[in-house]
Amino acid sequence: MHLHEDKMRDWLVHTRRDFHMYPEVSNQESRTGERIKEILSQLDIEVQDLHGLTGLVGLIRGKGQGKTIALRADIDALPIQELNDVPYKSRHDGIMHACGHDVHTTIMLGVAKQIQEAGLNKELKGNVKFLFQPAEEVGTGVKEMVAQGVLEDPKVDRVFGCHVSPDLPAGTVGVYRTLSHASADRFSLVIEGKGAHGGRPNEGIDPIVAGSYFVSAIQSVVGRNIKPTDAAVITVGKFMAGKAANVIPRQADLEGTIRAFSNNVRDQLIERMREIIQGIQQTFSVRCDLQFHESVPACVNDEDTSSFLYDVAVHVLGSDRVRYLPPITGSEDFAFFAIERPGAILRLGCANREKGLVHPLHSPHFNVDEEVLLIGVRLFTEAVRRSLT
Ligand code: NI
Repeated sequence: MHLHEDKMRDWLVHTRRDFHMYPEVSNQESRTGERIKEILSQLDIEVQDLHGLTGLVGLIRGKGQGKTIALRADIDALPIQELNDVPYKSRHDGIMHACGHDVHTTIMLGVAKQIQEAGLNKELKGNVKFLFQPAEEVGTGVKEMVAQGVLEDPKVDRVFGCHVSPDLPAGTVGVYRTLSHASADRFSLVIEGKGAHGGRPNEGIDPIVAGSYFVSAIQSVVGRNIKPTDAAVITVGKFMAGKAANVIPRQADLEGTIRAFSNNVRDQLIERMREIIQGIQQTFSVRCDLQFHESVPACVNDEDTSSFLYDVAVHVLGSDRVRYLPPITGSEDFAFFAIERPGAILRLGCANREKGLVHPLHSPHFNVDEEVLLIGVRLFTEAVRRSLT
């Protein structure tokens, strides 16, 4: 492979920058999907379209019988205005690959290219399925792909995924033993009061005061109701009400996210918030509509699959460059694949202090050390080779 590494590196950088320049938000990844399809077709790889989804499936059928390994890449971007000053800066106003999904997509395409062009396809006993998944950021893509049967025919035995991590230096890799990501549910709250003149509050019912009490009261749930050894998060990320300094508005709209590492804790959070909102209604005479929108469950990796990936990473990078990571309160809809099949997700270090590449995911300054591309390809090509030859 070494002779071809420079060529592969150039191809990866070029491909990633193309995705980076033309990012598309969840469920609108049509250009991205077309590009992926083009590349797979050029590589002579079978493509399966999905109904009503921009994502797609690529399939390499091995010459011999054996297992089917799936490699997953998410393809969507975020509604963020890129602030990086690079030649391949986003050409789509207000949209940016700020979570590195351009990198994940490119890596899995690179693996496909490597398998086809290095002749590994002729040695495979079993199949490699590439799951190019839309709408990760809204947590719906995997669920819909599973419903469309992407894990069947041929039946997938194991799923591998990756996500870049600016918390780890480029050239290093993190693996989760079992639990990797928290569950994430969105909640919305509409508080209806009664509008009034700001100078005569007694004639109205103030939804802002009621909403403020709600925001304060739910802070006690994690602090006082959840066991100190269990982790949980409640964040209100949106609180919209009113338009003028001297008017009490009729309504307040709040939205937030709750996160937990177990269903038990998740249920407890929901139950306590419902109780608190009852109290708020009685105390302030407001009418409240509190809704929970279930999105992504906690992501639990399969321990055997994790340790398989750990060994692969040690083989490719050396033992000093691989380590196990504790779970994080971010969410990852790979969780839906990991529920269906043994699965594991790798964290690929992408930070580089000297190059100033230190910004977190979802930052308008986020960027990766592009060395991560070739490392990702080497890792997952080795994972395929070990699984199927
Ligand atoms: Ni992401």
